[in-house]
Amino acid sequence: MRLGAVDFITKPFRFHEIQMAIERTRKYIDTVRNLKTMQHRYHYAAEELQNHLGHTIIGDSPAMAKAMSLMSTVAQTDETTVLITGESGTGKELVARGIHSISDRKHHPFCSVNVSAIPVSLFESEFFGHKKGAFTDAGTEKAGWFEIADSGTLFLDEISEMSMDHQAKLLRILEERVVIRVGTHQEIPVNVRIISATNQDIGKMVEKKQFREDLYYRLNTFIIDLPPLRHRKEDLTGLLFSFMQYFSQKMKKTIRHIVPDFYNELMSYDFPGNVRELKNIMERAVILCNGDTLRPEHLALPHKQNLQTGQEVSALMDENTGLVEVLEKN
Ligand SMILES: Nc1ncnc2c1ncn2[C@@H]1O[C@H](COP(=O)(O)OP(=O)(O)OP(=O)(O)O)[C@@H](O)[C@H]1O
Ligand SMILES: [Mg+2]
Repeated sequence: MRLGAVDFITKPFRFHEIQMAIERTRKYIDTVRNLKTMQHRYHYAAEELQNHLGHTIIGDSPAMAKAMSLMSTVAQTDETTVLITGESGTGKELVARGIHSISDRKHHPFCSVNVSAIPVSLFESEFFGHKKGAFTDAGTEKAGWFEIADSGTLFLDEISEMSMDHQAKLLRILEERVVIRVGTHQEIPVNVRIISATNQDIGKMVEKKQFREDLYYRLNTFIIDLPPLRHRKEDLTGLLFSFMQYFSQKMKKTIRHIVPDFYNELMSYDFPGNVRELKNIMERAVILCNGDTLRPEHLALPHKQNLQTGQEVSALMDENTGLVEVLEKN
């Protein structure tokens, strides 16, 4: 077994048992192969991002490797609409920028618009533009986001907040690929890739008639779901060290080590705010740390909760504490 056998059968055995073992092994080999392909693609995409974006997306847990692999696949298409789902702080905008920066649109604008931040009354002029005098406050002519993002990518964040009325208008643009500025009749062709993001379950909203079904099907041609950090604790070490390095460089400190207890506390925390929360926690820790080692007293976790089963956590800890200790010694 230590040399790599995945299973064994004791004598006397039945034919049926061998069949089952072969089936199990086949599945195991397939899984390992898939994982390797995805991790390979992850490293490729991570390197590309580093080159084009200046920083990369950290995390090669199976779930992140899958998301990154989808990201690099869809980046190769030109107009395919992408929907990125995931809890707050899981990296949706980062992935959207990632798609843009490794796509052929990379030399054109990436416009990020938070739908919930645009007042309903200004929606059309913001997205489609207007001509001078089209309405009371329209002092000058203005291009909308679709025109500004021409040849590039338009990122629509918090898409679930769009009113039903505006959803219908967005759908028409996606289908006809033209916009008309408010107060005019002229159709302006638009060439943008739409990436939208949400932390809501839009499928459920469709069921409740809170989101248009036709638009939903249009937006979700390609879905990338980003798992919450508490479901991919394997990524914690990489993120932790990267944020430690980033903030310590930024604040001109020379923090190089993390004691196991600091790490263990984070391992048993459930991160409701996901990677963003971890990043903030690390920024604070680096500010508070005056030496070269991060310790539990530099940590301020709001409330400690443990959503995983004790067993899972301790298994991960055993595996990773070793790593921290090794890193600490170096
Ligand atoms: N895998 C990752 N590697 C490195 N940094 C990450 C990763 N995921 C998220 N971050 C960082 O965490 C912060 C939050 O990410 P981002 O803004 O993309 O999240 P979001 O899903 O759009 O959140 P929200 O739903 O609140 O808008 C950013 O500073 C981002 O750079
Ligand atoms: Mg966001």
